[in-house]
Amino acid sequence: MVDHRRIRVLFDEDAIAKRNREMADAIAKADLKDLLVVAVLKGSFMFAADLIRAMHHAGLSPQVEFVHLSSYRDATVSSGQVEILRDVQSEVAGRDVLLVDDILESGRTIAFAKDLLAARGARRVLTAVLLEKPGKRAVSIKADLVGFVCPDYFVVGYGMDVAHSYRQLPFVGVVETDDQPGFHGV
Ligand code: IMP
Ligand code: MG
Repeated sequence: MVDHRRIRVLFDEDAIAKRNREMADAIAKADLKDLLVVAVLKGSFMFAADLIRAMHHAGLSPQVEFVHLSSYRDATVSSGQVEILRDVQSEVAGRDVLLVDDILESGRTIAFAKDLLAARGARRVLTAVLLEKPGKRAVSIKADLVGFVCPDYFVVGYGMDVAHSYRQLPFVGVVETDDQPGFHGV
């Protein structure tokens, strides 16, 4: 049973919607050709859906694809390895690709996906992440677009989960746990 009283909101719906519009406007100015959005499942599904709609309102007509990658499993600590659980089905060669993910933490997931698309001949691979946790990078990579810089807590909601729960929340929040008690300093 999910106890919503134990979740503190970090980024609310209005702040996320506003930031999505700003990022979509920035993407529209990047002069991308034959644009393919590749959303990294599962965590980015809600962000990708909203960002893509904002991109439509910014005048863009991207195609949309999904890749399902996993590095976390049910734990809140990265295993360090990235697996492809479902691959993209479209041709990426010669195209501009916008890779969309929920969080840039160690950087392994985005670096893996970026290398994969580049190896398949993508013309450019830009990256958009909803959240960036600074100071956690294991590989050297920067996202082209960052929604928000996120404090070093395990966050949930807006597509992100802990053990498969909380993805449905329309905001990003922190769950109080024994390891993460009284997150009042956020
Ligand atoms: P990285 O490969 O270490 O950069 O991790 C990125 C992936 O780990 C994200 O796509 C998320 O799926 C997951 N992740 C990292 N931090 C969190 C968190 O605080 N909440 C939920 N998922 C997270
Ligand atoms: Mg993810």
